[in-house]
Amino acid sequence: MQLSLATLVLAATAAAKNILLTNDDGFAATNIRATYRALTKAGHDVFLVAPVMQRSGWGGRFIIPDLPTLVLQVDFGYRKIGDPLWGSEPDDNHIWYFNATPAACVAFGLDHVIPNYFGNVLIDLVVAGPNEGTNLGQALYTLLGTMGATYNSLYRGVPAVAFSGSNSNNSFYKDSLNDDPENPSNIYADAVVDFVAHLFESQGENPLVLPLSTGISVNLPPVGSQLKTGCNKPGWELTRLTGSDAYSWVLHFNQTSGVFVLDTIHYNALGNGITGDLTLPGENTILTLTGCKSTVLVFSIDYDATTEQTNAVKGLLGNLFSE
Ligand SMILES: *[C@@H]1O[C@H](CO)[C@@H](O)[C@H](O)[C@H]1NC(C)=O
Ligand SMILES: *[C@@H]1O[C@H](CO)[C@@H](O)[C@H](O)[C@H]1NC(C)=O
Repeated sequence: MQLSLATLVLAATAAAKNILLTNDDGFAATNIRATYRALTKAGHDVFLVAPVMQRSGWGGRFIIPDLPTLVLQVDFGYRKIGDPLWGSEPDDNHIWYFNATPAACVAFGLDHVIPNYFGNVLIDLVVAGPNEGTNLGQALYTLLGTMGATYNSLYRGVPAVAFSGSNSNNSFYKDSLNDDPENPSNIYADAVVDFVAHLFESQGENPLVLPLSTGISVNLPPVGSQLKTGCNKPGWELTRLTGSDAYSWVLHFNQTSGVFVLDTIHYNALGNGITGDLTLPGENTILTLTGCKSTVLVFSIDYDATTEQTNAVKGLLGNLFSE
């Protein structure tokens, strides 16, 4: 009995990992707080390091503060003008804010918070999100702060996964975090715990949980109390970024109002995949059409074109390289 109990405890702690958790909606957003709670409860050592306020749409921009205090009142009035630019929760030194973009928050966590306050901790995985709003297709890949945090982690050789939810209400955790199993934030948090458990289980003795330069972007469908979906435990589907439903923006001019109106449109260039497994369904298609399924996209930060594309362009440049 004694022995098997010890073995069980060992098995349980073997999967406990060091996770840096960030987002672009701010450190007080409900989704990230629910996920912090769930990952911690699952036994992981979680360091939440996120922007002090909304930084959606900042992509991979790396902006750090140049004044010593906050000059704007931040979301939900949770930190005020004159407060320090960074700090931890008074009752939990694993939760940190920084007045910076998501990409810079990852660096703040890895270069400042961890070494200065926690010593020799190696982060096994950066988890970004779950974002308030989905992140589907190439246009949003580039735009989203959640993705910016993720690819900036990969640049440093730290594995990273982005999660994006279909609940886009910018909610304050003190208003919206509860124990309701129908709360979309809780369902997403459980999905994150489940997803990373699979990765960590396969990691074994490998120093990295994902291949170098390789990241994952997960999109979560509408769940729980949201629109009364009946979806409380979404399944998983491997997808690609391209595909017939990938879209970007188009602008129309309204002669009457004199104002431009933005719309989304599918362009062929976005649908025709070149790299990647073209037999996979597009993430847009799956998330929009199949209901209770999360999409799993594997992406690379090697932005070089394929050999064929490179050689085609080299041919177009004629004798440029021998001039
Ligand atoms: C949306 O966010 C506000 C502000 O935090 C909150 O009061 C409200 O309950 C939220 N609504 C939903 C549907 O979560
Ligand atoms: C153009 O603007 C006018 C005036 O604001 C508005 O009534 C009309 O609906 C707009 N047309 C379109 C196609 O959006």
